[in-house]
Amino acid sequence: MTAEETASALVAEARGLATDAVAALTAADTVAELTAARPDLLGKGAPLTGLRRRVGSLAPEDRPAAGRALSEALAEVAARYEARLDELRAAERRRQLEAERLDLTELPERPPVGRLHVISQTQRRLEDVFCAMGYTVAEGPEIETEWHNFGALNFPPGHPARDMYDTLYVDHGPPGSTLLRTHTSPVQVRVMQRQSPPLYVVAPGRCYRQDTADATHMPVFHQIEGLVVDEGITLGDLAGAIETFTTAYFGPGFTSRLRPSYFPFTEPSAEFDVQRPDGTWLELGGSGMVHPSVLEVCGLDPERWSGFAFGFGIDRLAMLRYSIDDLRDLWTNDSRFLEQF
Ligand code: PHE
Repeated sequence: MTAEETASALVAEARGLATDAVAALTAADTVAELTAARPDLLGKGAPLTGLRRRVGSLAPEDRPAAGRALSEALAEVAARYEARLDELRAAERRRQLEAERLDLTELPERPPVGRLHVISQTQRRLEDVFCAMGYTVAEGPEIETEWHNFGALNFPPGHPARDMYDTLYVDHGPPGSTLLRTHTSPVQVRVMQRQSPPLYVVAPGRCYRQDTADATHMPVFHQIEGLVVDEGITLGDLAGAIETFTTAYFGPGFTSRLRPSYFPFTEPSAEFDVQRPDGTWLELGGSGMVHPSVLEVCGLDPERWSGFAFGFGIDRLAMLRYSIDDLRDLWTNDSRFLEQF
């Protein structure tokens, strides 16, 4: 065998051994298996490493090339070894993470969370609209004196307008002196007595009338009262406030109108209606210019101050907005009904 043949045989053998080594390390399935095989693939006793000893027996001019080829084969195996090691380590880490994973989709079910009643939601929305218009929110008691509910509002005892309100009296004090307020208008009186103008307030709350419950009547219902008292307030301001409220609450397609009416505590008085985009009208509530004798009773000079007031039903508004067709559903408190809002 010539020296040249021996050199090429050595290089061919090195390539063969390198291929075997790569096949062996590729076959290792775990980090432990791979590291255990390392001495046999790259260690001092590995067949490929052993070929080094035979380079010395080649012809001197062949040694550098054969040595280089051998080094390249070893470097190739070492690089494949490292790559496989990284691969197996990553796979093992993945398996571990997978095994330790917390399944967040299987947390115990949370108890159902409640919500505001649809009437409270409506009331708050109304308060928001009026607050944006510069009004503040006032409150008054639900158990009222006859004087605040009627007397101060220009309903003298025996006045026929009292018959409009099917009053529930409370057995407290002299007969007929204490009642469940039939409207939120007594809050007007309390605000005017308590604060000095300019006044821009709304007063939402519960009202009571002797009524048999049916789809459109309840003995307990909610109103929101508005009261403005300032210098130079006119009927035009009332119409403007109603219109501003209408578009703010219902939307730009809606408009409002005032229709002559009668309330003892406003003069002139008007019902106000809201027109829907389809052209139909909805009667919403009562309004008018605060009667001079009401201002006087509350200690305000009607020569200096003038104002307007309005009041309407919150429940009706909610029925309209949410297409509720039976008022009684608002009181049954069936969660399947209430959850819709
Ligand atoms: N309080 C009246 C009612 O319930 C409505 C109203 C309020 C009228 C304010 C005029 C001014 O019928």
